[in-house]
Amino acid sequence: MKKSWWKESIVYQIYPRSFKDSSGNGIGDINGIIEKLDYIKSLGVDIIWICPIYDSPGIDNGYDISNYKEINKDFGGNKALDELIEKVHLKGLKIIMDLVVNHTSDQHNWFKEAKKSKLNPYHDYYIWKDGKINEFPNNWRSVFGGRVWKWNNKTEEFFLHLYTKNQPDLNWENPKVRKEIYSIIDFWLSKGIDGFRMDVISLISKRIAFKNTPDNMSFKDVMEKFYANGPRVHEFLKEMNREVLSKYDIVTVGEGPGINLKNGLNYVAENEKELNMIFHFDHLTIDFGPKGKYDPIPLNFIRFKEIFTKWDNLLANNGWNSIFLGNHDFSRIVSRFGNDKEYRVESAKLLITLIMTLRGTPYIYQGDEIGMTNVSYPSIDFYNDIETLNAWKEASINGENMSEFLNAVHLQSRDNSRTPMQWNLKRNSGFTIGDPWIPVNKNYKNINVSSQLKDSNSILNYYKRIISFRKLNATLVYGNYKDLEPNHPYLFVYKRWDENNEFLIIHNFSEKYLGLEKKITLNYNLVILNYENVKNQNKIRPWETRVYKSR
Ligand code: NOJ
Repeated sequence: MKKSWWKESIVYQIYPRSFKDSSGNGIGDINGIIEKLDYIKSLGVDIIWICPIYDSPGIDNGYDISNYKEINKDFGGNKALDELIEKVHLKGLKIIMDLVVNHTSDQHNWFKEAKKSKLNPYHDYYIWKDGKINEFPNNWRSVFGGRVWKWNNKTEEFFLHLYTKNQPDLNWENPKVRKEIYSIIDFWLSKGIDGFRMDVISLISKRIAFKNTPDNMSFKDVMEKFYANGPRVHEFLKEMNREVLSKYDIVTVGEGPGINLKNGLNYVAENEKELNMIFHFDHLTIDFGPKGKYDPIPLNFIRFKEIFTKWDNLLANNGWNSIFLGNHDFSRIVSRFGNDKEYRVESAKLLITLIMTLRGTPYIYQGDEIGMTNVSYPSIDFYNDIETLNAWKEASINGENMSEFLNAVHLQSRDNSRTPMQWNLKRNSGFTIGDPWIPVNKNYKNINVSSQLKDSNSILNYYKRIISFRKLNATLVYGNYKDLEPNHPYLFVYKRWDENNEFLIIHNFSEKYLGLEKKITLNYNLVILNYENVKNQNKIRPWETRVYKSR
C-alpha cells in the first residue's frame, strides 16, 4: 500500500452556517472559523473540510451555487477566505472545499441565460427535453421529492433537476461545461487550497435515453441503476484529473450516492487516476425502510459490521477508504448509532474509537467531539431543511399520520446535525450574539465545549487522546483488518496488525453486560478504555470500548 499524507490525515468537517458567527447576524461565518482555529488545531486533526460558502440563494444551504468564484458575503467574501487559507496553513493545517458541479443554482448566470432561448450559447449547459407542459419526459422522482423535470415556458422545454427545482443539473456532455468546471477547480487550487470534497460526483454522467424506472423499484436501486454511475462518469473524472487535479498535490473525496461494493473501486483505484476516496452510503442508509429515510427501521448490527468489513476488503490493496458515521446530511452519530441518553458519554467515545481504529481516512463532523445529539424540535415550523420540508409536504398530501411522521423527522431530519455548535453556557450556546438562523439545541447547558475542556473525562478530551493515539500508530492507518466476531449480535471485535504491531479492538454496541472469553486478551496490554478503569477483565460493560496492543 502506497503511503500518502492524506491517508495519514484526520479530517474535521465544518458546516460554516452553524459553526461560529462572528458578525452577529445569526449565521456562522469565515471569521468565526478563524476565531476557532486554535480549538480545531488542539483536537489534533490535520485537514478541515468546509461545506459550500460560495454565492448562493441558499435554497439548499449553499449546495445551490450562483457564482463559483465568489464567496457569499454572509460568510465574509473572498478576502475572508484568503485570510482563512493563510491562517490554516500557518497553523500547519490543510483546508479542502466543497465542489458542487452536478448542478448549479437556477440563479446562476449560466442558467438565467440558458432558459432564455434554445439559441442562447448557455442553453446547452443544462439538460433539456422537448414536450408538453404536464407531460413529463419520464417518471423520474427527485431526491428531494416530486418530479425531476420543470417546465420552462420561454423555450417550451423541461429541464432536469435531480435535487430541488432550483438546482438544474449541468450538462457534462458539453465540453464547454467541463472546461468551465476545470477552470473553477484551478481557480481555487491556485489560491492554495488542499483539495475538494466533490458533491454527488457519481451523478455527473447521465443516461441520456432517460428511460422510465420500473414502478416497484426501491429508490436506492433507482439511484444506483438509473441516476448514478452513468456511462461517461469515469471518462469525465479521468479527464478532470488529467486536466487539473494532477497538477497539484491535493486530496479528493467524491460523494457517491449509488456507489456500491461492485463499482466503488472504479472510482478510487490508484492506477485509474480519478479520485483518492469516496463516501459511500451503505452504512448510512442501513436504517432506511421500504419508503426511504422517513420510514426508519431498526439497525441490523451484523449487517452494519459486514459493510465495514466488505469495504475494507475491497480497498485493502488498491484505493483507499474514508471512515465516517455522519455529516450534515444525517442525524447525530450518538443518537443514531449510540445511546444519547444514559450512555451518551460512553457511546460517543466508543463511536470515535471505531472511527479512529478502522483502515481509511477518518472524518469527524463538528459537534460530534462533544457528543451533540439530535434536536427533536416540537413542530415542523422549527425545521429549515428543504429535504425535510418537502418530505413533510408530500407526506401530508399522501394523508400519512403526521404525528408519526414528526417522530421520523426527529430521528432522520438533516437539521439534527445542523443546529448551532454548542460552545459554552452563554446565550445561544455562544454561537451568536444575534438570533441564530436555526434554534440551538436546548441541551447546550449540559453539552458544550467550555465545560468539557475542564473535565479530563469528557468526550472532548477523549477525542483528543484517541486522535493522538491514531497519529502515533501507523498500524491503525495502514495495517490489516479482520473482524473476529462477525456474527455477534452486540460486539464488534477486530484486529489491526502489521509486521510491527497488533491491536485488538472490542466495542460493545449495547446496554448489556457481556462476558468475554479470557484468552482473547491474553497476550495484550490494554491501551485505550472509555470507562475510568477495568473492574472485571472478562466482563464488558454497556457501550464499553477497549483497545489492546500486543505485548
Ligand atoms: C449532497 C450534499 O451533502 C447535500 O447537503 C445536498 O443537499 C445534496 N448533495 C445536493 O447538492
